[in-house]
Amino acid sequence: MLSIRLVVDPAVGDTLVLPVRPTEGPVQPADGATQPADGATQPAEGPVHSAGEAAGTLVPTWLDLPAELTAEATALLPYLDQPGAAGAVHRSIRPLLTPTRLLLAGVGDGDEAGWRSAGAGVARAAAHESSITIAMPVDADPAVVRGLAEGLWLASYRFRMAASDDGPAGPPALAEVLLAVADPEPYRAALDTARAVAESTRFARDLTNTPSSRKTPAWFADQVVAAAAGHAGLTVDVREPDRLTAEGFGGILAVGGGSAQEPRLVELSWQPADARTHVVLVGKGITFDTGGISIKPRDAMKLMRKDMGGAAAVIAATVGAAALGLPVRVTALAPLAENMASGSAYRPGDVVRHYGGLTSESTNTDAEGRLVLADALAYAVDRLEPDLLIDLATLTGANSVALGKRTAALYSDNDELADAVLAAAGAAGERAWRMPLPVDYTEYLGSEIADLYSAPTQGAGSVVAALYLREFTGDLRDRWLHLDMSAPSWADGNDGELVKGATGWGVRTLLRWLATQPG
Ligand code: BES
Ligand code: MN
Ligand code: ZN
Repeated sequence: MLSIRLVVDPAVGDTLVLPVRPTEGPVQPADGATQPADGATQPAEGPVHSAGEAAGTLVPTWLDLPAELTAEATALLPYLDQPGAAGAVHRSIRPLLTPTRLLLAGVGDGDEAGWRSAGAGVARAAAHESSITIAMPVDADPAVVRGLAEGLWLASYRFRMAASDDGPAGPPALAEVLLAVADPEPYRAALDTARAVAESTRFARDLTNTPSSRKTPAWFADQVVAAAAGHAGLTVDVREPDRLTAEGFGGILAVGGGSAQEPRLVELSWQPADARTHVVLVGKGITFDTGGISIKPRDAMKLMRKDMGGAAAVIAATVGAAALGLPVRVTALAPLAENMASGSAYRPGDVVRHYGGLTSESTNTDAEGRLVLADALAYAVDRLEPDLLIDLATLTGANSVALGKRTAALYSDNDELADAVLAAAGAAGERAWRMPLPVDYTEYLGSEIADLYSAPTQGAGSVVAALYLREFTGDLRDRWLHLDMSAPSWADGNDGELVKGATGWGVRTLLRWLATQPG
């Protein structure tokens, strides 16, 4: 991860970044600045934005800049494509001068989200430089540093297994970012928070991007054990098939039964002294989803290594809670299994007996996620005494049908909890949209031979899956929240702070929300 440091009055090195805000109202030439004049030195078209039109404004910063440099930056403003737009970065090369590169970074409204976009834009524009300096605004709120740092760390993420650095991603170069401030003190906590959040998100992305040949349930469990070893106060318990059988985790065993790689149930706990609130987080951990005997067509299967994105998010958020020292008790449950088609695989029409005794008629073996989650939810309610219960799952293709690529579907009967998680997602820069749990749709779950059908075919796939999960929440029904994050768990291309591939969706939302919980 690149190094980001707060520094007082750094020497202006090779690359300098100056923040720009959109101009409201007519542009007034700044003191001592020159507007580009018409003449032979101008491009044929002249400035994109002429005086009197919005052209962006330099944000006053702590850095003591030579007057010529300020004048030059000001003169560039009318040429910006999207003056001051959050994440828009203009890069000019100045051979023989210092700095050699001048970046004008749009920060939009100048709030945390605007600076997060700016951080992402700068990380890409400066991807092939080794060290850059960013001049910070004179009146910056600590949230500005948090947004900027998260944007820089998340957009500079790379997952590589190649022997060489050739190829579209190129060599990872940007190693150091210096933030020029008058006094680092007010910003240290915000930078530390951003670091913990970014490290957790990157951990979730690494787990999710890892190919399934390596990412067996046992390997995933080993990664959790290794991560927990890094923080006092984190403990892990990994259940192997003999214990899963003895305790009745029939959903996990049925789904995992078709694979040569045995299933696991990972239980990771963060238990700060004197915590009064206990949050249990459950995450779907299908290390590869072929669909099983109800096998998926090839295009639908090709990215199914991401089907443990929910488990990655809850594990990484719990490690993040420890790194941040949050005063709330957190237990993450990751039911891990590989859904394969084989002679030992479970079949369409099999009846699965879950932890606690409820049974599911498994009409479609591709509805495997809800079977492993059902066990984990029932176990949490029976044994862990949660105050609040939240699950995250790449549960249905219907999530993106309803809400598109970047938005998770949120379900809860608890308005206060739903509002708090929606607010946390918004602040974190992740999107979720609340969906209904219509009571009359539960009739679709009725099976003639079991308590529930696992895969009713009446449509509203994401809603019906949520209703199915709710049946396993017992006394916690009104303190439970479900996030179907199939769509936003993956980015098809670079997009702001997201890098093509796993997004780590949910880690930032969970950490924001956990930070609002009383100890
Ligand atoms: N892992 C898939 C859901 C999924 C689809 C995640 C696309 C990410 C992208 C899940 O196990 C699944 O196969 N769901 C089925 C449910 C159906 C059989 C009731 C689906 O959505 O089609
Ligand atoms: Mn499936
Ligand atoms: Zn799945």
